[in-house]
Amino acid sequence: MKVLIVGKGGREHAIAWKVKESDMVKEVFIAPGNIGMENLGTLLDISEEKIEELADFAEKNKVDLTIVGPENVLALGIVNEFEKRGLKIFGPTKEAAKIESSKEFAKELMKKYDVPTGDYETFIDLEQAIKYVEEKGAPIVIKEDGLKAGKGVTVAFSEKEALDALKIAFSIPNNKVVIEEYLDGFEFSIIALTNGEIVIPLEIAQDHKRAYDDDKGPNTGGMGVYSPVDRINSDVINETLEKILKPMAKGMVKDGIPFKGFLFGGIMLTKDGVKTIEFNARFGDPEAEGILPRLESDFVKAILDLMNNKSVELQWDKRYTVAVVMASENYPKSSTIGCEIHIPENLNSTIFHMGTREVDGKVETNGGRVLSVVAYGNTLEEAKKNAYLDVKKIKCKKLFFRNDIGSKMCYNNENK
Ligand code: AMP
Ligand code: GLY
Repeated sequence: MKVLIVGKGGREHAIAWKVKESDMVKEVFIAPGNIGMENLGTLLDISEEKIEELADFAEKNKVDLTIVGPENVLALGIVNEFEKRGLKIFGPTKEAAKIESSKEFAKELMKKYDVPTGDYETFIDLEQAIKYVEEKGAPIVIKEDGLKAGKGVTVAFSEKEALDALKIAFSIPNNKVVIEEYLDGFEFSIIALTNGEIVIPLEIAQDHKRAYDDDKGPNTGGMGVYSPVDRINSDVINETLEKILKPMAKGMVKDGIPFKGFLFGGIMLTKDGVKTIEFNARFGDPEAEGILPRLESDFVKAILDLMNNKSVELQWDKRYTVAVVMASENYPKSSTIGCEIHIPENLNSTIFHMGTREVDGKVETNGGRVLSVVAYGNTLEEAKKNAYLDVKKIKCKKLFFRNDIGSKMCYNNENK
């Protein structure tokens, strides 16, 4: 069969790499992809937002299955367009993708279906928002509504920080802000494959959202993950499934907006059980790079079975993975384009390209997050050691990385 993957980052690189392994797949197309994916399939010169052109291509070339990576393309309605034309595509419609594109929408659904999450209020007015923060005090969390690539969130540990974030948020015309209770605990990412009715969780990963070591610095799209997460045992996973993912999926079917695709929960394990920080409508990045290398089952078969309403049992490699993100020096503030990167040939890690380009045969930086370096180990320590050995062999003047991916074993406050 022919599979089309939409997107150009590390997540899509990992998806293409896994799809390519499937015995069912004869041909892989990636739109637009990046140079790291060149040997996995045909890179199409169609940007990911051009959903009609993508559907034209899928129709003309008889693509059997399309898998969508990024949230903005889902929010634009790629799934609606493909389904209107009778093309098979794995991802939510733009209506269902609102669980990510609107924090307020997600919060209302959670309230309606009793899905545990922090208390919150939505504001369109700065004065009202300031009053609320003064009433509640810090710590408190300020979230701009809409897609922000993980960057529109301020976890404020002082009132001043919260008020500064509000001022910035409301300097953007017509902005809407969700102010949320601070959840203290151990954060993890759970991604499930779902057709709306059946929910199949993948293995757990833990992301590292802050830019710098020891969870310092601004929030980013994610600076690295490890998987599995020993602290999250099968009881916690079951609780997350039964209290969060399944009620959400069932509720969305009931509301006439069934969610098909990768249902991603950012979850906090608190002293009072699991609580939802956010939902995403797609695979995580770098979660995909950490989780998919551990999947032993045929990924494409699993997706197709699920789309045919068959339950799926997934097999996993017991080893640990650690994925370390190498990012442009000023990420998330800005990105560096055109700095040469030397990637030695003999690395043991798998290198997924997040934001690279090729100029005159040389690999260069081309985005905020640039590479994801993924290594296995029989223990977490070994996976960490292996990943950092290779990270240090990759040479580029303008890249930085966190040195502590896989080191956070405690609740937020336990080690403060
Ligand atoms: P989000 O974009 O909603 O995932 O937020 C980005 C990051 O901010 C999360 O991954 C958490 O680390 C942190 N965060 C968001 N909401 C909360 C909350 N209510 N309590 C504590 N931390 C939060
Ligand atoms: N790494 C978190 C995300 O993909 O949103």
